[in-house]
Amino acid sequence: MKVYLDNAATTQLDPEVLEAMLPLMTEQFGNPSSIHSYGRAVRSSIERARKSIAGILNAAPAEIFFTSGGTEADNTAIRSSIETFGLKHAITSRIEHHAVLHTLEHLKKLGVIELSFVNLNAKGEVDLEHLDALLASKPRSLVSLMHGNNEIGNLLDLETAGDICEKYDAIFHSDTVQTMGHYRHDLQKLKTNFIVGAAHKFNGPKGIGFLYVRPGIKINPFVHGGAQERNMRGGTENIYGIVGLAKALEIAYRDMDAHQQHIEGLKGRMIGKLKDGIEGVTFNGNSGELGKSLYTVLSVSLPPSDISDMLLFNLDIAGIAVSGGSACSSGTDIGSHVLNELRIDENRANVRFSFGKYNTEAEIDYAAETLIGLYKKESIIL
Ligand SMILES: Cc1ncc(COP(=O)(O)O)c(C=O)c1O
Repeated sequence: MKVYLDNAATTQLDPEVLEAMLPLMTEQFGNPSSIHSYGRAVRSSIERARKSIAGILNAAPAEIFFTSGGTEADNTAIRSSIETFGLKHAITSRIEHHAVLHTLEHLKKLGVIELSFVNLNAKGEVDLEHLDALLASKPRSLVSLMHGNNEIGNLLDLETAGDICEKYDAIFHSDTVQTMGHYRHDLQKLKTNFIVGAAHKFNGPKGIGFLYVRPGIKINPFVHGGAQERNMRGGTENIYGIVGLAKALEIAYRDMDAHQQHIEGLKGRMIGKLKDGIEGVTFNGNSGELGKSLYTVLSVSLPPSDISDMLLFNLDIAGIAVSGGSACSSGTDIGSHVLNELRIDENRANVRFSFGKYNTEAEIDYAAETLIGLYKKESIIL
């Protein structure tokens, strides 16, 4: 049996999305910047996609900019806002995705900004009172805090964080890569200045994402070149990606309740089986608590054992694809900065299961039983 449980790394393309993309890979091949009929046909597909995404998020089409994915969207939001507004200080957390952390650390190294880190508790929850205190001493900063953590699944209360940012006239960017397409984002209610999406996290194609920029914020171009994306990002558009992204988001919103119910059921099933089968199993961050974490992510912490080092390998041999640390660093357990921050005992092995809409209960049972079996075979060193 082959079981894919690494959906926070990426998801399988939905056949409906592929169907929507195919015409743009075949007969609709014009360059959208061309003024002839070939170009105009593709231009109108792009603008339809933009309008659809904006409508879903309760935003205006002009506020959506297509990018190559989450990383580029995060980079753009951070770098352009700091440059445009001349911001001198940024606040983030130590458990952000590297798309955010490395960007901010780079700007700090260049001497462009000072960087502060908001306190986290042992579960990795952001201390919002500390955020308030940091902003009270340095208002008008950039705040970059992710909505859903890709490794431990923790969810940030975007509304409260947004209120605090507003109080201090801060610019608020949230990396919403893991929640986009899985939770509803209403941009008339949220106070985020920037949010982002990557299609491949919600059964769309890879290499395409978007940046939402709140009106009134005019940011500088990130990629200089042609006039694409209203001069923000030069380069011929990824036309089939854009159409696939819109279709994937439409499907995600259409099916969201059933999708959530199905996946939450799988996660709950996995939690129950592991608790029953492995003595001393725990769950990192808030990931063991349904409702307080992404329903797609379960970060499992396993008691010290002789098999710890070979765990991912053994699961892979059994046909089970999971991740150790951050999936974005390609499934190797090389010491995740997130788990390190949570000060998890380094003798415990960590496995991230992340669930998607194509997973079944039989797959969960197989993965859980395989993991439990591996632990039963070995004497656990306590
Ligand atoms: C929270 C988060 N932000 C950003 C990214 C980067 O997205 P992309 O791979 O589309 O560049 C990822 C990818 O795993 C992610 O999980």
